[in-house]
Amino acid sequence: MSQHEISSEVNIKHCWELIQEGIASRKSNYHIMTLGYLNNNHPRCINLIPRKLCEKSAIINVHTDIRSQKVAHLKNQPHISCLFWCKYKKIQLSLSGVAKLRHHDELTLKTWKSMRQMSKICYCADIPPSTKSSERTTGFTKKTWEDRQVIAETMHPYDNFAIVQLHIHCVERLHLSASGHEKIKFTLGPDSRWTHQWLAP
Ligand SMILES: Cc1cc2nc3c(=O)[nH]c(=O)nc-3n(C[C@H](O)[C@H](O)[C@H](O)COP(=O)(O)O)c2cc1C
Repeated sequence: MSQHEISSEVNIKHCWELIQEGIASRKSNYHIMTLGYLNNNHPRCINLIPRKLCEKSAIINVHTDIRSQKVAHLKNQPHISCLFWCKYKKIQLSLSGVAKLRHHDELTLKTWKSMRQMSKICYCADIPPSTKSSERTTGFTKKTWEDRQVIAETMHPYDNFAIVQLHIHCVERLHLSASGHEKIKFTLGPDSRWTHQWLAP
């Protein structure tokens, strides 16, 4: 195969498969994704769990609290970067795109209804994320913590639930190997087709 041909394994589909593997399995190193975003022009990185990937539209969904800092910042500056790394496969995926927020709509409602009680509890916290506190806080006042199982069964915490959709435009795959590292960049064109470009690692 010539250097300019793309091997069957190294294509955008393979990158999506790794992310799908992370979504499906907690044991996968791709289960946790690092999201980079701008917080008033200052870069900030946080870990998030990718919950769903639509390969056709190249959208990754993550779940969050509408009251969190990132929501306000992503509204102002929606450009994002996502980073995945598996130390066993030795493949890093660096994605970039734009975040769009979903709240109180068909998608969030359908997702909420499919969520486990345990996952809903996070959204029952009555002290908004990043609220300053003079003492340690879990984000729950005593009474709310005691009642959390009951509250999670109501639609009250649904008000706090949001989905951030990461619209991916570019995927860079770096494979570290003793037989030679390799890097390839996939870019989504205006015709919705992915093109690739090999790069020196
Ligand atoms: C392993 C791990 C997974 C996490 N998953 C999520 C998640 O899916 N959604 C979320 O909002 N925060 C998640 N967090 C917490 C975020 O990293 C972050 O601290 C929080 O969302 C507040 O971020 P913000 O201040 O930028 O809004 C996770 C943290 C860790 C360590």
